[in-house]
Amino acid sequence: MERIVVTDVVAEARRALGERLLILAHHYQRDEIVEAADYRGDSLELSRRAAASDARWIVFCGVHFMAETAAVLAKEGQRVLIPREDAGCFLAHSIDYPSLMELWRVLSDVMDPDEEVIPVAYVNTTADVKAFVGEKGGACCTSSSAETVLRWAFSRRPRVLFVPDQYLGRNTARRLGIPEEEIVVWDPRFPDLDRERFARARLILWRGTCNVHVRFLPEDVRRVRRERPEAKVIVHPECRPEVVELADEVGSTSYIIKTVTTSPPGSVWAVGTEERLVSRLAKENPEVEVFSLAEVPPFCSYMSLTRPEDLGAILGGLLSGEERNVVEVPPEIREPARLSLERMLEITSK
Ligand code: 13P
Ligand code: SF4
Repeated sequence: MERIVVTDVVAEARRALGERLLILAHHYQRDEIVEAADYRGDSLELSRRAAASDARWIVFCGVHFMAETAAVLAKEGQRVLIPREDAGCFLAHSIDYPSLMELWRVLSDVMDPDEEVIPVAYVNTTADVKAFVGEKGGACCTSSSAETVLRWAFSRRPRVLFVPDQYLGRNTARRLGIPEEEIVVWDPRFPDLDRERFARARLILWRGTCNVHVRFLPEDVRRVRRERPEAKVIVHPECRPEVVELADEVGSTSYIIKTVTTSPPGSVWAVGTEERLVSRLAKENPEVEVFSLAEVPPFCSYMSLTRPEDLGAILGGLLSGEERNVVEVPPEIREPARLSLERMLEITSK
């Protein structure tokens, strides 16, 4: 019953608001939400859609940092609304502006960070972290652009600070051939600087992880190899490096989708990423076999928060002239944060 009502609200909002309304959904959202959206995508695709749109209202079905990114990129007069304001992200919560400032201060004991270090932030961060990166000449990246942005960063300064996903950082560093002894990890909970190691480091990683992707273990890959030797293993780069090393393929959400959907009929895939995406891939591609790499497939609890009734409430509000859950970023944060995002969009458009 509920679902019918929500579908009606979506249809009515589309009729009444036309092109002034854009509904975006990340691939990890519930099926009912993805079906209601104008576009589904990974975080890079959705930020591009948001940036290119002229809609007055962008309803962002995803987690808060994604809607905030859209708000930072929004044009004058555009409004970004999020159905669930409490949809956070384990990675985004692992870092904030003051602790980043503290690291910069500590680094100045062994190097001149303003001259030598360029920061790169995964988009899974709050706007103030992106603002810090923008102010220091750095750029954002997504999982699909991490390698390109890291190459760009190393072409500008000798050292890179990559925040906050240590595994995405390390997995990408391995692809770039950066040796282990040139990589250090900064743990903000135990802010002790190993002066010698940091002085030598080319890549400084923040000790953050995604609680969903860390659930995939090397043992899962070994079990699949034993039980389903015909299966190929494909994983997201937020997974542990030990898992990535054993996998056949590694790539962002859009890479995983493209690889699985273009594989020959009869292919078998064990996928190491968020379960809503994995089960949708299985449902929409019956000519290939798709299953989770984990025995107990992990869901992103934050992505799961958005239910059809939450989207319905936002659209119902718009129909009655009320803007609910508007995501706002103060101008002093928005401007430098926008710089770091625009750099990413520019670097990845070449
Ligand atoms: P993508 O950049 O691949 O969309 O991933 C976002 C995310 O939150 C992965 O956990
Ligand atoms: Fe954040 Fe992980 Fe959820 Fe992605 S899957 S939104 S990184 S908590």
